[in-house]
Amino acid sequence: MRRESRMRLTTLLAGALAGLFLVVQAGPASAARPAGKVGVDWGKEKGQECVDCHMTENPGLYWEWNHSQHGQNGVNCLDCHEAKEGEIDAFMHEEALISIVVTPKDCAKCHETEYQEMEGSHHAHAGNILASLDNLMGEVIGGPAAVNAGCKQCHGAKLEFIAEGKNKGRPTPGTWPNTGIGRINPDDSRGSCTACHGRHRFSRAQARTPDTCGKCHVGPDHPQQEIYNESKHGIIYRAKMDEMNLDSDKWVAGVDYSAAPTCASCHMSAGGDEKKTHNVGERISWTLRPPISTKINLVKLENGEEFDVPEGKPIPAVGDEAKGSKVVEVLTWKDRRGKMENICYGCHATSVVEGHYMQFDAVVDLYNEKFAKPIAAIMGELKEKGYITPAPFDEKIEWVWWEIWHHEGRRARHGASMNGPDYTWWHGIYDVAKNTYFEWIPELKEVAHKKDGDEKFATAMLEKHFKPIEGHDWYFNGLSKEALEKVQKGFEERYGKGALK
Ligand code: HEC
Ligand code: HEC
Ligand code: HEC
Ligand code: HEC
Ligand code: HEC
Ligand code: HEC
Ligand code: HEC
Ligand code: HEC
Repeated sequence: MRRESRMRLTTLLAGALAGLFLVVQAGPASAARPAGKVGVDWGKEKGQECVDCHMTENPGLYWEWNHSQHGQNGVNCLDCHEAKEGEIDAFMHEEALISIVVTPKDCAKCHETEYQEMEGSHHAHAGNILASLDNLMGEVIGGPAAVNAGCKQCHGAKLEFIAEGKNKGRPTPGTWPNTGIGRINPDDSRGSCTACHGRHRFSRAQARTPDTCGKCHVGPDHPQQEIYNESKHGIIYRAKMDEMNLDSDKWVAGVDYSAAPTCASCHMSAGGDEKKTHNVGERISWTLRPPISTKINLVKLENGEEFDVPEGKPIPAVGDEAKGSKVVEVLTWKDRRGKMENICYGCHATSVVEGHYMQFDAVVDLYNEKFAKPIAAIMGELKEKGYITPAPFDEKIEWVWWEIWHHEGRRARHGASMNGPDYTWWHGIYDVAKNTYFEWIPELKEVAHKKDGDEKFATAMLEKHFKPIEGHDWYFNGLSKEALEKVQKGFEERYGKGALK
């Protein structure tokens, strides 16, 4: 109740003040907001001509812009679309030099903080997928058209522009439209702000919804959206959407809303004394993407770049030279986790938060130690000893392993990190186990048989890498008599005598 009346008051106040003050710059908490004056720093006079004509030319586009914070604060078409002489994406249009493409650097004219935070992050680097296994699969085993309309719509394309003729300066249809998260832009900036802020509303409220992220964080190999939907957080979010206060200014978790967190709440927005950030990697302590997960420390450089250092590897100190620049900040994996926990504490107490991380870490360890490490070690030996070719994906055993880590193993790890029990087990460790024992091991024997005419090498590999791991005892020694009897008894109690056949 108290919160509701406070909100009403702020809304009333905001209404009364609208039109009087444009932008109020007040201390570091709101440093992200642009400082400036309409007509001086933006609101180019010529921009009104763009508005007037496009109002009838594309009324939908005009409507969205006019209802946006930009439209309401006098930021017009030319403020964003204006280009400079000599830029490869520039062309003359109604006596103005403009570009269709509006890059993060263009937004940075007014939103430097968001730009800086995003540019160093993994998001801005997601266009660098050319040298990956995934890309080899996409380009060669699939085909380039699918990479263009598939991979690159999430990851980002390198934009190219028509160099000659009447369409000079316009993006090539092969590379545009594209609003991939790591788009490679003509001004050397990376990423696309529109990936999350749909144009021309550029709304904060829309970016805070889980579906924004779900454009990309979805599907068999990274089902964060589906995991969120099945978590209690996702369930309550949908039930209480009208209490989410998505339009609020600061949107601090536990203060401006309490029903449930969204993706943005945990990975970007403010909570506790944690400030909001456009660097989605800051609050992550593990990397859950590679075949074997490691905890990761974050090193930030003076030139705006940053990189992860896996736990156990030496971490450079603040002031050290690294990758052609100087280290300005180090966040250990514990610091990163602490930042995430700050958000949880807006709504939870210690037992839930610590218990959650304990359960999550245990699943990652289970996946790593019982499955990923021994399989990866054997795959390495198979390659080294000539049982399989150096080329990836030309043998079935490689596909089976690929799906174990890239799809099923990721699903299990992601499920455990964000409270999706179905993904942790049925779409996760269940599939990992089934395919390890009943797809990958048989294939290992097949591979050995093909080269040697017997399965001795496969047996030796399993003895060496699987047998020492307690979790595989059942495979080598069978299930114990007690365990079987216990199951039989339970089954009969539930379903009647003779139920377990
Ligand atoms: C007199 C009318 C008129 C004025 C003034 C005008 N435009 Fe346009 N603009 C058009 C028309 C017509 C098109 C082509 C529409 C289409 O392709 O659907 C267009 C195309 C564009 C495009 C390219 C769209 C695409 O996908 O190819 C952009 C960007 C654009 N205008 C922005 C601006 C900006 C910025 C200004 C102000 C400097 C402006 N326009 C002024 C009429 C106008
Ligand atoms: C806050 C910055 C901003 C403002 C203000 C703005 N635009 Fe855009 N506009 C963008 C971005 C970002 C894109 C997407 C281009 C990209 O992906 O780089 C875009 C795309 C476009 C396109 C091509 C895409 C389409 O959907 O057809 C047109 C046309 C366009 N803008 C016209 C306008 C007009 C007319 C106005 C003024 C009424 C305007 N813009 C105001 C940022 C802006
Ligand atoms: C639906 C959007 C989408 C499509 C389509 C897609 N990806 Fe991804 N990709 C993602 C997301 C999201 C992640 C991050 C997953 C995570 O963190 O769990 C990712 C992760 C990756 C990574 C790992 C990056 C790293 O830093 O470890 C590579 C490499 C990659 N994708 C390449 C590709 C290639 C190549 C294709 C097409 C053959 C493709 N992706 C298709 C969204 C997509
Ligand atoms: C991964 C999605 C995502 C991308 C990409 C993204 N944003 Fe945001 N942005 C958000 C979210 C979520 C919020 C709301 C944060 C909060 O709750 O306060 C936001 C808020 C903002 C705000 C409002 C800041 C404030 O103080 O209220 C601005 C300005 C902004 N973004 C600009 C940008 C610019 C510029 C870029 C590109 C450099 C960008 N965003 C890229 C998700 C994104
Ligand atoms: C010429 C200056 C200027 C440029 C360029 C500009 N913005 Fe803004 N932006 C503003 C102003 C002014 C506001 C309103 C700020 C406020 O309400 O305090 C704003 C507000 C926003 C918000 C908050 C909207 C909300 O729902 O509250 C977002 C998000 C945003 N801008 C994103 C972008 C993106 C993305 C780009 C580039 C495509 C961009 N801006 C380019 C000046 C600019
Ligand atoms: C309740 C908070 C919370 C919510 C809501 C949430 N996440 Fe997460 N997310 C986490 C935690 C905790 C981790 C694991 C962090 C770590 O490694 O310590 C994580 C991990 C991730 C990762 C890293 C995976 C990797 O490959 O390393 C991605 C990507 C991600 N989340 C995206 C999303 C998306 C998209 C949504 C919404 C659909 C979402 N998250 C909702 C808390 C949340
Ligand atoms: C247009 C596609 C796209 C959208 C939208 C998107 N992401 Fe991502 N995200 C990616 C890709 C691709 C990666 C993997 C980047 C890489 O490592 O190469 C990624 C990586 C991440 C990571 C891991 C960062 C790290 O440092 O390892 C997190 C967390 C994340 N995204 C959260 C979010 C959240 C939260 C949203 C919504 C507010 C969101 N993403 C929206 C494509 C997207
Ligand atoms: C905006 C408030 C909010 C934030 C922030 C938040 N949660 Fe929650 N969380 C809830 C609510 C509400 C529930 C549902 C409680 C219930 O009925 O079980 C919940 C449920 C949970 C549950 C399930 C508990 C159960 O009894 O089944 C776990 C685990 C959890 N949250 C962990 C986290 C973690 C970890 C974080 C931070 C990474 C976090 N939450 C952030 C509000 C929040």
